[in-house]
Amino acid sequence: MPRSIIAGIGMHVPENVFSNQDLTKYMDTSDEWIQERTGIQQRRYADRKAETTTTMGIEAAKIAIERAGLTEQDIDFIIFATLSPDYYFPGCGVLVQREMKMKEIGALDIRNQCSGFVYAISVADQFIKSGMYKNILVIGSEKHSFGLDFSTKGRNISVIFGDGAGAVVLQATDDAERGILSTHLHSDGNGAEILAMYNPGTHGNHWHHFADFDNDDMGKAFMTHAMIDNDQNFPTMDGQAVFKKAIEKFPEVIMEALRINGLNPSDIDMLIPHQANLRISQMVQKMLKLPSEKVYNNIQRYGNTTAASIPIALCEAWQEGKIKEGSLVCLAAFGSGFTWASALIRW
Ligand code: ACO
Repeated sequence: MPRSIIAGIGMHVPENVFSNQDLTKYMDTSDEWIQERTGIQQRRYADRKAETTTTMGIEAAKIAIERAGLTEQDIDFIIFATLSPDYYFPGCGVLVQREMKMKEIGALDIRNQCSGFVYAISVADQFIKSGMYKNILVIGSEKHSFGLDFSTKGRNISVIFGDGAGAVVLQATDDAERGILSTHLHSDGNGAEILAMYNPGTHGNHWHHFADFDNDDMGKAFMTHAMIDNDQNFPTMDGQAVFKKAIEKFPEVIMEALRINGLNPSDIDMLIPHQANLRISQMVQKMLKLPSEKVYNNIQRYGNTTAASIPIALCEAWQEGKIKEGSLVCLAAFGSGFTWASALIRW
């Protein structure tokens, strides 16, 4: 059975750097508060007109494809993970296919928020193992800056998130020594509303009494003026509940991956945790008794870029020579849903 290797990796972040101090122009916050609670010093924001989730994803994809020694025409399938798509529908995958002038290949969008990239890798891995595809482009990209509440009311969320993209080409190999060893996917929908953006959506008022929909309101759909007036077009999060669940599920899903492969935490050469919050990564590191040089963190510079955070961190770690052939790399994610996931890769 073929295995999947990461044949090429790329990243793209917008040029515009937005510091914690810059945020204080819009909301009541401070550099000290943000750094103390999250570790974040700055993030990047996309150009509001020229850059989209898809265009950033394409920039990362071009680098990944080139580093794989391929061209766009060699790609057999596209998987795009994001929670901030260019359009409500269709997804970003088809926009990549069009803009990169690819063949009429399949394009799949994944909506698993912070776990989106690991879910995407897992799906791609199954297609490769089954022999269906040889080269799959997997992109994680977010343009959060378009959908955040920059008033003081939204500060607990808006200070955390940043924009950017990462991409990999997963490629089939017969080399039994390398590649993705296993992936592990989980969810618990009881936490669905703990970190969510309800609108635009078709929930009516079934789950929450946020919108005034009645059965005689034909024609009212997705978004009403009242929703906008009441700031119901922004994400909502119970940060402490997310924190508690994250520090339980990150170690659990990493240990699951290690156990199934007969390995121990000390075998990990590089842990790439989803960049949710530096405090979460540090607690996970402590729980697994890993030295700092074996856990990659760049949330300080980019904030939390959701589906893009793992491929951006993986790309930087690789570019800095911290991942080499033979390295055991563990990807681990937790986020909205709740969903959580891990992947163990022999580089
Ligand atoms: N600046 C200044 N003060 C703030 C800010 C801000 N940006 N945000 C909230 N506050 C205030 C609150 O209003 C509150 O004030 P009060 O005590 O006067 O009411 C006080 O700070 C404490 O608020 P909490 O929300 O309780 O702050 P907490 O200590 O929980 O920190 C945080 C918030 C950073 C979000 C934390 O809960 C956390 O990191 N949770 C994990 C969630 C996470 O990482 N989410 C990332 C996305 S999900 C993912 O990727 C997994």
